[in-house]
Amino acid sequence: MRVLITGHEGYIGAVMAPMFRDEGLDVVGLDSGLFVDCDFGSQPSGIPGIRRDLRDVTAADLEGFDAVIHLAAISNDPLGNLNPDCTYAINHRASIHLAKCAKEAGVGRYLYSSSCSVYGAASPDDVLDENAAFSPVTPYAESKVMVEADLAPLADDDFCPVYLRNATVYGVSPRLRGDLVVNNLVGWALTTGQVFLKSDGSPWRPLVHVEDVCRAFLAALRAPREVVFNQPFNVGRTGETFRIIEVANMVAERIEGSRVEIAEGAGPDPRCYRVNFEKIERELPGYDPSWTVAKGVAQLDEAYRTIGLTKEDLEGSRYLRIARIQELLDQKKLDQDLRFVDAGDSP
Ligand SMILES: NC(=O)c1ccc[n+]([C@@H]2O[C@H](COP(=O)([O-])OP(=O)(O)OC[C@H]3O[C@@H](n4cnc5c(N)ncnc54)[C@H](O)[C@@H]3O)[C@@H](O)[C@H]2O)c1
Repeated sequence: MRVLITGHEGYIGAVMAPMFRDEGLDVVGLDSGLFVDCDFGSQPSGIPGIRRDLRDVTAADLEGFDAVIHLAAISNDPLGNLNPDCTYAINHRASIHLAKCAKEAGVGRYLYSSSCSVYGAASPDDVLDENAAFSPVTPYAESKVMVEADLAPLADDDFCPVYLRNATVYGVSPRLRGDLVVNNLVGWALTTGQVFLKSDGSPWRPLVHVEDVCRAFLAALRAPREVVFNQPFNVGRTGETFRIIEVANMVAERIEGSRVEIAEGAGPDPRCYRVNFEKIERELPGYDPSWTVAKGVAQLDEAYRTIGLTKEDLEGSRYLRIARIQELLDQKKLDQDLRFVDAGDSP
Protein backbone atom coordinates (compact mmCIF):
# COMPACT_ATOMS: atom_id res chain seq x y z
CA MET A 1 0.00 0.00 0.00
CA ARG A 2 1.35 3.40 -1.01
CA VAL A 3 0.55 6.07 1.57
CA LEU A 4 1.08 9.83 1.67
CA ILE A 5 1.45 11.29 5.19
CA THR A 6 1.12 15.09 5.37
CA GLY A 7 2.91 16.69 8.33
CA HIS A 8 5.31 13.74 8.49
CA GLU A 9 7.99 16.00 10.01
CA GLY A 10 5.80 16.94 12.99
CA TYR A 11 5.38 15.41 16.44
CA ILE A 12 3.03 12.58 15.44
CA GLY A 13 4.26 12.22 11.85
CA ALA A 14 7.88 11.68 12.89
CA VAL A 15 6.75 8.58 14.83
CA MET A 16 4.12 7.45 12.35
CA ALA A 17 6.14 7.56 9.11
CA PRO A 18 8.94 5.18 10.24
CA MET A 19 6.43 2.94 12.07
CA PHE A 20 4.38 2.52 8.89
CA ARG A 21 7.49 1.95 6.78
CA ASP A 22 8.54 -0.77 9.23
CA GLU A 23 5.06 -2.28 8.82
CA GLY A 24 5.82 -2.71 5.13
CA LEU A 25 3.94 0.29 3.74
CA ASP A 26 5.38 2.43 0.98
CA VAL A 27 5.43 5.81 2.77
CA VAL A 28 5.97 9.27 1.29
CA GLY A 29 5.71 12.46 3.35
CA LEU A 30 4.61 15.99 2.54
CA ASP A 31 5.51 18.92 4.77
CA SER A 32 6.28 22.65 4.46
CA GLY A 33 9.21 22.29 6.86
CA LEU A 34 8.22 24.57 9.74
CA PHE A 35 10.18 22.48 12.25
CA VAL A 36 13.24 21.38 10.29
CA ASP A 37 16.18 20.80 12.65
CA CYS A 38 13.99 20.91 15.78
CA ASP A 39 15.14 17.40 16.60
CA PHE A 40 14.98 15.58 19.91
CA GLY A 41 17.94 13.24 20.14
CA SER A 42 17.53 10.94 17.17
CA GLN A 43 18.45 11.32 13.54
CA PRO A 44 15.95 12.00 10.73
CA SER A 45 14.24 8.82 9.59
CA GLY A 46 15.07 8.98 5.87
CA ILE A 47 11.44 8.95 4.76
CA PRO A 48 11.16 10.40 1.23
CA GLY A 49 9.23 13.65 1.32
CA ILE A 50 7.67 16.34 -0.83
CA ARG A 51 8.55 19.86 0.36
CA ARG A 52 5.24 21.60 -0.27
CA ASP A 53 2.71 23.86 1.43
CA LEU A 54 -0.67 22.16 1.73
CA ARG A 55 -2.29 25.16 0.09
CA ASP A 56 -0.30 24.49 -3.11
CA VAL A 57 -0.96 20.77 -3.50
CA THR A 58 -2.38 19.59 -6.83
CA ALA A 59 -4.09 16.34 -7.81
CA ALA A 60 -0.92 15.41 -9.71
CA ASP A 61 0.97 15.28 -6.35
CA LEU A 62 -1.42 12.58 -5.16
CA GLU A 63 -1.46 10.30 -8.21
CA GLY A 64 -0.62 6.68 -7.38
CA PHE A 65 -1.41 6.78 -3.64
CA ASP A 66 -3.89 4.36 -2.06
CA ALA A 67 -4.40 6.52 1.01
CA VAL A 68 -3.71 9.99 2.37
CA ILE A 69 -3.14 10.47 6.08
CA HIS A 70 -3.65 14.13 6.78
CA LEU A 71 -1.75 15.35 9.85
CA ALA A 72 -0.33 18.69 8.66
CA ALA A 73 -1.90 21.64 10.47
CA ILE A 74 -1.46 24.65 12.65
CA SER A 75 -1.75 22.21 15.41
CA ASN A 76 -2.57 23.67 18.79
CA ASP A 77 -4.62 26.43 20.39
CA PRO A 78 -1.91 29.08 20.97
CA LEU A 79 -0.63 28.69 17.38
CA GLY A 80 -4.17 28.76 16.05
CA ASN A 81 -4.84 32.03 17.90
CA LEU A 82 -1.79 33.78 16.33
CA ASN A 83 -3.63 34.44 13.07
CA PRO A 84 -7.10 32.83 13.04
CA ASP A 85 -7.66 33.60 9.33
CA CYS A 86 -4.51 31.71 8.49
CA THR A 87 -5.53 28.87 10.81
CA TYR A 88 -8.78 28.49 8.87
CA ALA A 89 -6.92 28.77 5.54
CA ILE A 90 -4.50 25.96 6.40
CA ASN A 91 -6.53 23.77 8.73
CA HIS A 92 -9.92 24.04 7.10
CA ARG A 93 -9.76 25.18 3.49
CA ALA A 94 -6.46 23.46 2.58
CA SER A 95 -7.65 20.20 4.21
CA ILE A 96 -10.75 20.23 2.01
CA HIS A 97 -8.65 21.21 -1.02
CA LEU A 98 -6.33 18.27 -0.26
CA ALA A 99 -9.30 15.91 0.01
CA LYS A 100 -10.72 17.09 -3.32
CA CYS A 101 -7.31 16.63 -4.97
CA ALA A 102 -7.06 13.15 -3.42
CA LYS A 103 -10.50 12.23 -4.71
CA GLU A 104 -9.65 13.54 -8.18
CA ALA A 105 -6.44 11.50 -8.17
CA GLY A 106 -8.35 8.33 -7.27
CA VAL A 107 -7.07 7.98 -3.68
CA GLY A 108 -9.45 5.61 -1.89
CA ARG A 109 -9.00 6.42 1.78
CA TYR A 110 -8.48 9.74 3.57
CA LEU A 111 -7.66 9.61 7.28
CA TYR A 112 -8.18 12.99 8.86
CA SER A 113 -6.39 13.84 12.10
CA SER A 114 -9.13 15.53 14.08
CA SER A 115 -9.14 16.20 17.80
CA CYS A 116 -11.17 15.61 20.95
CA SER A 117 -10.92 19.38 21.36
CA VAL A 118 -14.02 19.53 19.11
CA TYR A 119 -15.92 18.75 22.34
CA GLY A 120 -14.35 21.86 23.89
CA ALA A 121 -16.20 23.21 26.88
CA ALA A 122 -18.26 20.24 28.01
CA SER A 123 -19.93 19.45 31.31
CA PRO A 124 -17.60 17.54 33.65
CA ASP A 125 -20.54 15.24 34.39
CA ASP A 126 -20.78 13.94 30.82
CA VAL A 127 -18.54 11.30 29.24
CA LEU A 128 -18.66 12.10 25.54
CA ASP A 129 -18.94 9.60 22.76
CA GLU A 130 -18.75 10.33 19.04
CA ASN A 131 -22.38 11.52 18.94
CA ALA A 132 -21.86 14.25 21.54
CA ALA A 133 -22.43 17.88 20.58
CA PHE A 134 -19.42 19.92 19.48
CA SER A 135 -18.47 22.90 21.60
CA PRO A 136 -15.15 24.21 20.24
CA VAL A 137 -13.66 27.14 22.15
CA THR A 138 -10.75 28.14 19.89
CA PRO A 139 -10.15 28.73 16.15
CA TYR A 140 -8.01 25.56 16.14
CA ALA A 141 -10.85 23.41 17.50
CA GLU A 142 -13.41 25.20 15.32
CA SER A 143 -11.30 24.41 12.23
CA LYS A 144 -11.45 20.69 13.11
CA VAL A 145 -15.26 20.84 13.32
CA MET A 146 -15.44 22.60 9.94
CA VAL A 147 -13.25 20.02 8.22
CA GLU A 148 -15.30 17.09 9.49
CA ALA A 149 -18.50 18.79 8.28
CA ASP A 150 -17.10 19.53 4.81
CA LEU A 151 -15.40 16.17 4.27
CA ALA A 152 -18.58 14.17 4.84
CA PRO A 153 -20.31 15.24 1.58
CA LEU A 154 -17.25 14.02 -0.37
CA ALA A 155 -17.73 10.45 0.88
CA ASP A 156 -18.88 8.04 -1.83
CA ASP A 157 -18.20 4.58 -3.25
CA ASP A 158 -14.68 5.58 -4.29
CA PHE A 159 -13.68 7.92 -1.46
CA CYS A 160 -13.66 6.91 2.19
CA PRO A 161 -12.94 9.68 4.71
CA VAL A 162 -12.36 8.73 8.37
CA TYR A 163 -12.22 11.19 11.28
CA LEU A 164 -9.77 10.27 14.02
CA ARG A 165 -10.39 12.53 17.01
CA ASN A 166 -7.18 12.26 18.97
CA ALA A 167 -7.02 12.86 22.69
CA THR A 168 -4.18 15.13 23.84
CA VAL A 169 -1.00 13.32 22.89
CA TYR A 170 2.11 12.69 25.03
CA GLY A 171 5.32 10.72 24.76
CA VAL A 172 8.71 10.74 23.09
CA SER A 173 9.01 11.64 19.41
CA PRO A 174 12.01 12.70 17.30
CA ARG A 175 10.08 16.01 17.04
CA LEU A 176 9.27 16.42 20.71
CA ARG A 177 6.72 19.05 21.79
CA GLY A 178 7.14 20.76 25.15
CA ASP A 179 3.74 22.44 24.80
CA LEU A 180 1.72 19.26 25.37
CA VAL A 181 0.57 18.90 28.94
CA VAL A 182 2.27 15.65 30.02
CA ASN A 183 5.50 16.43 28.15
CA ASN A 184 5.48 19.91 29.67
CA LEU A 185 4.82 18.91 33.27
CA VAL A 186 7.55 16.23 33.24
CA GLY A 187 9.97 18.76 31.76
CA TRP A 188 9.18 21.37 34.40
CA ALA A 189 9.44 18.85 37.23
CA LEU A 190 12.80 17.63 36.07
CA THR A 191 14.39 20.99 35.26
CA THR A 192 12.93 23.19 38.05
CA GLY A 193 11.54 20.85 40.71
CA GLN A 194 8.10 22.38 40.13
CA VAL A 195 5.19 20.65 38.44
CA PHE A 196 3.83 23.98 37.36
CA LEU A 197 0.14 24.41 36.49
CA LYS A 198 -1.04 27.57 34.77
CA SER A 199 -4.71 26.69 35.39
CA ASP A 200 -6.20 25.36 38.63
CA GLY A 201 -5.91 21.76 37.40
CA SER A 202 -9.62 21.00 37.66
CA PRO A 203 -10.51 20.36 33.96
CA TRP A 204 -10.71 16.84 32.55
CA ARG A 205 -8.50 15.89 29.65
CA PRO A 206 -8.22 12.57 27.76
CA LEU A 207 -4.61 11.58 27.07
CA VAL A 208 -3.04 9.18 24.58
CA HIS A 209 0.52 8.13 23.79
CA VAL A 210 1.90 9.13 20.39
CA GLU A 211 2.59 5.48 19.46
CA ASP A 212 -0.99 4.49 20.26
CA VAL A 213 -2.25 7.31 18.02
CA CYS A 214 -0.13 5.90 15.19
CA ARG A 215 -1.52 2.42 15.85
CA ALA A 216 -5.05 3.80 15.62
CA PHE A 217 -4.29 5.30 12.20
CA LEU A 218 -2.68 2.05 11.06
CA ALA A 219 -5.78 0.13 12.16
CA ALA A 220 -8.03 2.62 10.34
CA LEU A 221 -5.91 2.25 7.22
CA ARG A 222 -6.20 -1.53 7.24
CA ALA A 223 -9.79 -1.86 8.45
CA PRO A 224 -12.50 -3.12 6.10
CA ARG A 225 -14.09 -0.16 4.35
CA GLU A 226 -17.54 -0.72 5.86
CA VAL A 227 -16.11 -0.45 9.40
CA VAL A 228 -14.62 3.02 8.93
CA PHE A 229 -16.54 4.59 6.04
CA ASN A 230 -17.27 8.25 6.92
CA GLN A 231 -16.96 7.41 10.62
CA PRO A 232 -15.57 9.41 13.54
CA PHE A 233 -13.51 7.62 16.20
CA ASN A 234 -12.32 9.08 19.47
CA VAL A 235 -8.67 8.02 19.73
CA GLY A 236 -7.54 7.18 23.23
CA ARG A 237 -8.08 4.57 25.88
CA THR A 238 -10.71 3.84 28.51
CA GLY A 239 -9.39 4.82 31.96
CA GLU A 240 -6.95 7.37 30.53
CA THR A 241 -8.97 10.58 31.03
CA PHE A 242 -7.78 12.58 34.03
CA ARG A 243 -8.15 15.90 35.74
CA ILE A 244 -4.96 17.88 35.06
CA ILE A 245 -4.20 17.96 38.80
CA GLU A 246 -4.17 14.15 38.82
CA VAL A 247 -1.60 14.16 36.00
CA ALA A 248 0.49 16.69 37.94
CA ASN A 249 0.38 14.45 41.00
CA MET A 250 1.52 11.45 38.91
CA VAL A 251 4.46 13.49 37.65
CA ALA A 252 5.40 14.69 41.16
CA GLU A 253 5.28 11.10 42.37
CA ARG A 254 7.70 9.98 39.65
CA ILE A 255 10.21 12.86 39.76
CA GLU A 256 11.89 12.76 43.11
CA GLY A 257 12.01 16.09 44.94
CA SER A 258 9.42 17.79 42.71
CA ARG A 259 6.16 19.29 43.94
CA VAL A 260 2.98 20.63 42.36
CA GLU A 261 2.71 24.43 42.11
CA ILE A 262 -0.39 26.24 40.90
CA ALA A 263 0.10 29.69 39.33
CA GLU A 264 -1.14 32.54 41.49
CA GLY A 265 -4.76 33.47 40.72
CA ALA A 266 -5.13 30.50 38.35
CA GLY A 267 -8.71 29.69 37.38
CA PRO A 268 -10.10 26.73 35.48
CA ASP A 269 -9.18 26.22 31.82
CA PRO A 270 -12.43 26.48 29.80
CA ARG A 271 -11.38 23.42 27.78
CA CYS A 272 -12.78 20.51 29.71
CA TYR A 273 -13.96 17.21 28.26
CA ARG A 274 -14.30 13.64 29.45
CA VAL A 275 -14.30 11.24 26.53
CA ASN A 276 -15.60 7.74 25.90
CA PHE A 277 -13.30 5.46 23.85
CA GLU A 278 -15.49 2.37 23.66
CA LYS A 279 -16.22 2.72 19.95
CA ILE A 280 -12.59 2.52 18.79
CA GLU A 281 -11.83 -0.25 21.28
CA ARG A 282 -14.86 -2.27 20.20
CA GLU A 283 -15.08 -1.62 16.47
CA LEU A 284 -11.63 -0.97 15.03
CA PRO A 285 -9.87 -4.31 14.46
CA GLY A 286 -6.19 -4.27 15.42
CA TYR A 287 -6.39 -1.21 17.68
CA ASP A 288 -4.72 -2.33 20.88
CA PRO A 289 -3.33 0.64 22.85
CA SER A 290 -0.54 -0.30 25.21
CA TRP A 291 0.47 2.93 26.95
CA THR A 292 -0.72 4.59 30.13
CA VAL A 293 0.09 8.10 31.31
CA ALA A 294 2.12 6.64 34.18
CA LYS A 295 4.31 4.69 31.70
CA GLY A 296 4.57 7.75 29.47
CA VAL A 297 5.77 9.91 32.37
CA ALA A 298 8.52 7.37 33.04
CA GLN A 299 9.47 7.26 29.34
CA LEU A 300 9.75 11.06 29.17
CA ASP A 301 11.69 11.24 32.43
CA GLU A 302 14.29 8.82 31.09
CA ALA A 303 14.51 10.47 27.66
CA TYR A 304 14.84 13.99 29.11
CA ARG A 305 17.61 12.83 31.46
CA THR A 306 19.42 11.11 28.59
CA ILE A 307 19.62 14.26 26.51
CA GLY A 308 20.18 16.55 29.53
CA LEU A 309 17.08 18.72 28.98
CA THR A 310 17.25 22.21 30.51
CA LYS A 311 14.54 24.76 31.36
CA GLU A 312 15.86 26.94 28.51
CA ASP A 313 15.37 24.04 26.09
CA LEU A 314 11.83 23.60 27.32
CA GLU A 315 10.97 27.24 26.71
CA GLY A 316 12.94 27.63 23.48
CA SER A 317 12.03 27.32 19.82
CA ARG A 318 13.24 23.74 19.45
CA TYR A 319 10.37 22.21 21.40
CA LEU A 320 7.80 25.01 21.76
CA ARG A 321 5.80 25.43 18.57
CA ILE A 322 4.69 28.98 19.26
CA ALA A 323 8.28 30.06 20.00
CA ARG A 324 9.50 28.42 16.79
CA ILE A 325 6.88 30.11 14.61
CA GLN A 326 7.42 33.46 16.34
CA GLU A 327 11.15 33.14 15.72
CA LEU A 328 10.60 32.46 11.99
CA LEU A 329 8.20 35.45 11.84
CA ASP A 330 10.67 37.73 13.67
CA GLN A 331 13.44 36.65 11.28
CA LYS A 332 11.03 37.47 8.42
CA LYS A 333 11.50 33.96 7.06
CA LEU A 334 7.74 33.41 7.33
CA ASP A 335 5.12 35.95 6.30
CA GLN A 336 1.89 36.57 8.25
CA ASP A 337 0.21 33.76 6.31
CA LEU A 338 2.90 31.39 7.59
CA ARG A 339 4.37 30.92 4.15
CA PHE A 340 8.13 30.91 3.66
CA VAL A 341 8.99 34.33 2.19
CA ASP A 342 11.88 33.16 0.12
CA ALA A 343 12.08 29.76 -1.54
CA GLY A 344 15.63 29.69 -0.13
CA ASP A 345 14.25 29.92 3.44
CA SER A 346 12.07 26.91 2.94
CA PRO A 347 14.33 24.15 4.22
N1 LIG B 1 -0.42 16.55 19.29
C1 LIG B 1 -1.64 16.46 19.80
O1 LIG B 1 -1.85 16.43 21.03
C2 LIG B 1 -2.84 16.37 18.89
C3 LIG B 1 -4.09 16.11 19.45
C4 LIG B 1 -5.19 16.06 18.62
C5 LIG B 1 -5.05 16.25 17.26
N2 LIG B 1 -3.82 16.51 16.75
C6 LIG B 1 -3.72 16.72 15.30
O2 LIG B 1 -2.77 15.82 14.73
C7 LIG B 1 -2.07 16.44 13.65
C8 LIG B 1 -0.57 16.37 13.88
O3 LIG B 1 -0.26 17.00 15.12
P1 LIG B 1 1.24 17.20 15.59
O4 LIG B 1 1.18 17.35 17.08
O5 LIG B 1 2.12 16.18 14.99
O6 LIG B 1 1.55 18.63 14.95
P2 LIG B 1 2.97 19.35 14.67
O7 LIG B 1 2.73 20.81 14.80
O8 LIG B 1 4.01 18.74 15.51
O9 LIG B 1 3.26 18.98 13.16
C9 LIG B 1 2.52 19.53 12.10
C10 LIG B 1 3.35 19.42 10.83
O10 LIG B 1 2.57 20.02 9.78
C11 LIG B 1 3.43 20.83 8.99
N3 LIG B 1 2.64 21.90 8.41
C12 LIG B 1 2.03 22.93 9.05
N4 LIG B 1 1.43 23.75 8.18
C13 LIG B 1 1.67 23.22 6.94
C14 LIG B 1 1.30 23.61 5.62
N5 LIG B 1 0.59 24.74 5.39
N6 LIG B 1 1.70 22.84 4.58
C15 LIG B 1 2.43 21.72 4.80
N7 LIG B 1 2.83 21.31 6.02
C16 LIG B 1 2.44 22.06 7.08
C17 LIG B 1 4.49 21.36 9.95
O11 LIG B 1 5.68 21.74 9.29
C18 LIG B 1 4.67 20.18 10.90
O12 LIG B 1 5.74 19.35 10.51
C19 LIG B 1 -2.61 17.87 13.57
O13 LIG B 1 -3.65 17.92 12.62
C20 LIG B 1 -3.18 18.11 14.96
O14 LIG B 1 -4.20 19.07 14.94
C21 LIG B 1 -2.71 16.57 17.52
